[in-house]
Amino acid sequence: MIYFDNSATTPIDPRVLDTFVKVSQNYPGNPSSLHQLGRKATEVLELSRQQIKDILNLKNREVLFTSGGSEGDNLIIKGVAHNRKFSGHHIIVSAIEHAAVLNAAKQLEKEGFEVTYLSPDKNGQIRPETLSNAIRNDTILVSIMAVNNETGAIQPLDELSDILQKYPQIVFHVDAVQAIGKQLESIYLNDRIDFLSFSGHKFRGPRGVGFVIYHPNRHFDPLIAGGGQENGLRGGTENIPAIAAMAKALRLSFDNINQCQKKYIEMKNILLNFLDKDPDFYVISKNSKIYTPSIISFALIGVKGETVIHYLEAQGTFISTTSACASNRNQPSHVLMAMKEPDEVIKGELRVSLGPQNDISEMKNFVNQLEKMKDKLKVFI
Ligand SMILES: Cc1ncc(COP(=O)(O)O)c(C=O)c1O
Repeated sequence: MIYFDNSATTPIDPRVLDTFVKVSQNYPGNPSSLHQLGRKATEVLELSRQQIKDILNLKNREVLFTSGGSEGDNLIIKGVAHNRKFSGHHIIVSAIEHAAVLNAAKQLEKEGFEVTYLSPDKNGQIRPETLSNAIRNDTILVSIMAVNNETGAIQPLDELSDILQKYPQIVFHVDAVQAIGKQLESIYLNDRIDFLSFSGHKFRGPRGVGFVIYHPNRHFDPLIAGGGQENGLRGGTENIPAIAAMAKALRLSFDNINQCQKKYIEMKNILLNFLDKDPDFYVISKNSKIYTPSIISFALIGVKGETVIHYLEAQGTFISTTSACASNRNQPSHVLMAMKEPDEVIKGELRVSLGPQNDISEMKNFVNQLEKMKDKLKVFI
């Protein structure tokens, strides 16, 4: 089997699973309980939090645990909007955000907030001047992702932050779900960014757990009311085994980040060398200065993405068309549409996304499969 769908989810690292099982067995208490078992569970919770802060070298920032990237995005977008509704009603998000951000913004529109959706340039990046032109006196929040989950386009967050330096009243949120563990943190962490959301299952942690980084001086309303957990900012008994396992997965991914980056570059080059030679293939994420090496987005012109996916699946290879949620609903990619890619590219979109467990020989096999596939599918071209 070749699994190249790591942007959808990564297989849990066995060492992480081991932590999950051990913490489940050895720390049965609820951190809110006053007795010894509760205190022991709280220790694991706080150690995990501290570990994440240390790995990311966070100063003056806090970590709040969530159920994953979608909750983190919803919590911050809705929470900030609700908390600041007396200061303004205008929100800016990019048009290429994950559905968790876009649909949270759409729900806010129904409540009377106004949302501006920023169009990317032809490479799928948001230009600083596009952001600058959209800012109004009543803008309260800007949300722009770090790395796009479909194309791998790295957003120029430092340049966008420079624009926002002039507007200290505007809250800046970054969905860094596809950046963490794959890109060095300098591309998604800087002093101007107030909030970031992350998801454990994108870096070989368990599914259904994530975290948000927040600035203690920036306020937001909780999404889940409850028993005062997470400083009163997110109700619900903390998922201690998943949180401890996620902290471990983060450490493992950081220990390995440089080797993985090198490997992804090599693997991506093998694929690009093959695709570039064949005019029937169209590559979106080619430029290595713009796109992360772990995501390669391309199309076999004239052949629908699903046809290729199912053909490869029969060979034991798993890639995807758009994001997992959009492909599931059979919708054309809003990201490629915003980039104004031609129709035939949108219909044929394919995404290969790499993870730490993949290796060079898998990419060589994959290229062979693509070569054979072209012979079989050429009737469609
Ligand atoms: C950029 C981005 N944000 C948010 C999410 C949602 O994360 P989760 O699956 O943990 O809810 C994803 C998942 O694909 C993503 O790629």
